[in-house]
Amino acid sequence: MQFIAMLGRQPAIGIAELERVHGDVHWFGHDSAIVNCESFDIERLGGTIKAGIVVSELTGSDWRKTSMELVRTYARKWQGSSGKITVGISAYGFTITVQEVKRTGHILKSKLKESGVSLRVVPNEHTAISSASSHHNKLGLSPNKVELIIVRGHNGKVVIAESTGSQNITALARRDQARPARDAFVGMLPPKLAQIVINLAVGSKEKPLNLLDPFCGTGVLLQESVLMGYDVIGTDLSEKMVSYSNKNLEWLQGHHNIKTKWKLFAGDATDTKWPDRIDAVATEAYLGQPFSAPPSNKKLAEVRNTCDTVIGKFLQNIAGQIESGTPLCIAVPAWNNGNDRFTHLHIVKKLDGYGYKQIAFKNVSARDLLYYRPGQVVARELLVFEKQ
Ligand SMILES: C[S@@+](CC[C@H](N)C(=O)[O-])C[C@H]1O[C@@H](n2cnc3c(N)ncnc32)[C@H](O)[C@@H]1O
Repeated sequence: MQFIAMLGRQPAIGIAELERVHGDVHWFGHDSAIVNCESFDIERLGGTIKAGIVVSELTGSDWRKTSMELVRTYARKWQGSSGKITVGISAYGFTITVQEVKRTGHILKSKLKESGVSLRVVPNEHTAISSASSHHNKLGLSPNKVELIIVRGHNGKVVIAESTGSQNITALARRDQARPARDAFVGMLPPKLAQIVINLAVGSKEKPLNLLDPFCGTGVLLQESVLMGYDVIGTDLSEKMVSYSNKNLEWLQGHHNIKTKWKLFAGDATDTKWPDRIDAVATEAYLGQPFSAPPSNKKLAEVRNTCDTVIGKFLQNIAGQIESGTPLCIAVPAWNNGNDRFTHLHIVKKLDGYGYKQIAFKNVSARDLLYYRPGQVVARELLVFEKQ
C-alpha cells in the first residue's frame, strides 16, 4: 500500500525516522513523504503528524481541477450513506486561500444534501486542518470520520489520501506531564523525540529485542520503548535518576498493559559491564550544563571537552559488549552559536576510529539530524550508526 506522511516541525528528522522503520520512503513535498508499506502505525512515530492511504494521483492539477475531482469522487462515494459523515479537508503545497478550501467543503456538502446525506465539514482555520483538530475530531479513526489530505508535490503531481489518523497529542502530553518523577535540570526529553531516537536505532529490527539506555535519567526513552514493545535496560550514574525512572515506569504500567520487561541499576556508562545481551542502544547522552545564552568560547570548550570525554569513553566501553551490526542512536549536544551555526562534538567525526560506521540515509544527510527549537542554545544531534 502507499501512504503519504505529513512530517513534523523538522521534516528531515521525520523522513529519516520513516526511512529507518519502513525502508521504501521518498520525499513528495517539502514536508511530506511517500511510504510504501503494509501497515502504518502513527502512534509509534515521533516525526509524523498525520498519515493517509493514497487513493488517487492527479498529474498537472491546480486546486480548481483537484477540487472538482474531490467533489465528484466523494459526492458519488457517499451518496448512499445512512449516518452522518464528518469530513475535514487539508490542502498542502497549493498557493490558495483558506476560503478556497472552505468552498470545496460547501459544494460537497450541498451536493450530498441533494441526495439526502448529512455532511459536517470540520471548519478550516488554515488551508490544512491542524493535527490537533484532526485528533480531537477523531478524523481517520472510523469510516464516517474522514480527513482528505491533498498534497501537491515537488513534481507538480497531486496526491489525494484518506487519513488513517494523526499524532495522539493528548496521550503524548499526558505521558510527558503526568508522570510522577520529573527533573528540570536533567532535562525534559519530549516523548516524540524519544520515539524518534528509538526508531532511528531499532529501525525495522524484529522483537523481542533488548534495548539499552545507559544515560536513562528520568526514563522518558525507557517509557516510550516499553510502550513500543521492547525490553529495556536503563542505567544512570545517579541513584536518584534510577529511582525516578523506576517510579515513572511503575506509573506507566498502572495506565497501560505493558508486557515487556525492564531492568534498572546505577552505573557509570564509561565502565559498566551490562550483564544482558544488548540488541540496540538508544539514548540521550550527557548534554553538559543547560545554557540560556551562548556561552563564552572558554566555557564552550570546557563543556564540549567534558561531553566528548564522557560519550567517547562510553563508546569505547560499549564497543566490546555488542555484536557487529548492533545499531545505536545517540542524541548528543551541539551548541548554537546564535546564528544557526553549530559547534559539534569532536567524536562526531571519529565514530569509525571507535569501531563504528555511520548509517547512511537516502533522503537526508547526517548533518540534517539536528533537533532544536529557535532560540535554544543546546541542540541535540542525532547520531545513527552501527558496530563494525
Ligand atoms: C540529558 S540527561 C538524560 C535525560 C533522560 N533522557 C530523561 O528522560 O530524563 C543525561 C543523564 O546522564 C546521566 N549521566 C551523566 N554522566 C553519566 C555517566 N558517566 N554515566 C551514566 N550516566 C551519566 C545524568 O545523571 C543524566 O541523568
